[in-house]
Amino acid sequence: MTYSRILGTGSYLPETVLTNAMLAERVETSDEWIVTRTGIRERRIAADDQKTSDLAYQASLQALQSAGLTAADIDLIIVATTTPDMVFPSTASILQEKLGIPGVPAFDVQAVCAGFVYALATANGYIKSGMAKNVLVVGAEVMSRLLDWEDRRTCVLFGDGAGAVVVGPSDEPGILHAKLAADGRYRDILKTEAQIASGGVDGTPFLYMDGPAVFKFAVKALSDIAEKTLAEAGVTQADVDWLVPHQANLRIIESTAKHLGLSMDKVIVTLPEQGNTSAASIPLAFDHAVKSGQIQRGQTVMLEGIGGGFAWGALLLRF
Ligand code: ACO
Repeated sequence: MTYSRILGTGSYLPETVLTNAMLAERVETSDEWIVTRTGIRERRIAADDQKTSDLAYQASLQALQSAGLTAADIDLIIVATTTPDMVFPSTASILQEKLGIPGVPAFDVQAVCAGFVYALATANGYIKSGMAKNVLVVGAEVMSRLLDWEDRRTCVLFGDGAGAVVVGPSDEPGILHAKLAADGRYRDILKTEAQIASGGVDGTPFLYMDGPAVFKFAVKALSDIAEKTLAEAGVTQADVDWLVPHQANLRIIESTAKHLGLSMDKVIVTLPEQGNTSAASIPLAFDHAVKSGQIQRGQTVMLEGIGGGFAWGALLLRF
C-alpha cells in the first residue's frame, strides 16, 4: 500500500512588521487589549506589489529545496487561499506559471482558515489513489487586503504570509488520518460577502466577524474533530508529540489543547509574531517548528484548523 508523507516544508513572511503599538495609532485599541484577548503582538503585511502567488512562490521554493526536489518533480499543485490574486484563474495556475511547470494540474481550495487541512487531505487522497506522486500544497494569504483598517474588532487580528509542503509517496505511514467538516448554517458569523457583479462590487468588501460567536463555535468544533480524528486513527492523546493548530487566537488554542489533555509545551504557537494568516497559518507554524528543531522526523503531529463556512478539519500525521 502507498502512503503519503511530508517530504519538505517551507514558508515566507513579508518584510513589513505591523506592531500593536502601530495599530493603536490608527484605531482606538492598545497593545494590552490585543495581547490579553488574542495573544497577538505583531503581524506581517505584504507590500503593495506582492500578491498571494508571490508569497506562495517563495514558500514553495523553500519546500522544494527542503524536500530535495525541483519543480519538475511536482505533478500536482494545490493552493489553499481566501485571498486569490484574482477571481480567476486560480492562484495555483499562476503559481504553476511562476514555477515554470506547464501542464501540471493546479487548483485552489477555498475553505478559509481550514484551507490547508482541506488541501493536505486532498493531496493525501491523490497520492494514495495513485493519481499523483509529488504534490505541492500551499497555504497563502494576503488577509490585510480584506480588512477595514478603521474597524478595531477585526483589523488587529490578521496578517499575511505563506507556508508550503511537498507531499510524496511512502512505504511507511505519513499522513495517518484526516477528518473534514463544514456547516453552512454558520456562514454569516464570519464572511466577506462582496461579489463582482455587472461591473461593480456587490456587498461589503471587508471581512466581517461576530467574534464571540466564532470563539464559541471554534472551541467546540475543534475539540470534537480532534478527538474523533484520534479515535478513528486508533491513536491516543499520549502518542501526540505536537499539536499545530490554526493560529487565530491564543485562548482558542489553549482551550483546544486543554480539551485534548495536551500541555501547551506540546503546542506550536507562532501567533504572537504573525497574527491570523488564515490558510497560511498551519504550514507557517509547521515550517517554523521544523526549522527550530521542535518537530522531528518520526514524531506524531496533529494539525487542526477552522474558519469561515464554517469549515474545519483535523489531520494526524507521522513526520
Ligand atoms: N481594541 C479595543 N477594544 C476592542 C477591540 C480592540 N481591538 N476590539 C473590540 N473591542 C471592544 C468592543 O468594541 C467591545 O466594546 P463595547 O463593549 O464597548 O462594545 C469590547 O471590546 C468587547 O467586544 P467583544 O467582541 O465582545 O470582545 P471579546 O472579548 O469577544 O474579544 C475577540 C474579541 C478577540 C475577537 C474574541 O471574540 C475572539 O477571540 N473571537 C474569536 C475570533 C477569532 O479568533 N477570529 C479569528 C478569525 S476566525 C478563525 O480564524 C477561526
